[in-house]
Amino acid sequence: MKAALALLLIAACTGDPVGEDTGSTCPPSDPPTYASFGQPFMQTYCLACHSQSKLGDDRNGAPVTIDFDTRSLIRENTSRIDKQAAFGPTSKNRLMPDDDHQPQPSDAERVRLGEYIACEIGR
Ligand code: HEC
Repeated sequence: MKAALALLLIAACTGDPVGEDTGSTCPPSDPPTYASFGQPFMQTYCLACHSQSKLGDDRNGAPVTIDFDTRSLIRENTSRIDKQAAFGPTSKNRLMPDDDHQPQPSDAERVRLGEYIACEIGR
């Protein structure tokens, strides 16, 4: 019991948890774009905290350097987004949005997010 508690404390002190790269690929047919997927996805699930228009406490603790209001901001953070929120062949990440935040993306939307990020990296 004590050991389990100590482990928990260590986990809590090593900084923000980071998931694994999903290994997603950009689908050749009907690839998701910023307009068709990225913009509405971020608007629905992420901008409540990760927006340049949110200041101070309104960010709910989201780092001031991590915002997704525009396509270029998303492109600066492709690897991070993949590891925090996307599903793919090599991992399923649901660290973001925070557990207690609603709405949460469906599993299918997380798969699509991985594909979208792969497409942005390739564009
Ligand atoms: C309720 C507020 C909230 C929402 C909504 C939210 N986040 Fe976060 N995000 C945070 C907080 C707080 C942190 C810093 C602590 C942490 O990393 O757990 C963070 C950190 C991050 C980081 C940096 C992690 C790192 O260290 O690399 C990324 C990337 C991220 N979020 C992506 C997303 C994505 C993508 C979404 C939408 C699917 C999202 N977040 C939705 C609050 C939020």
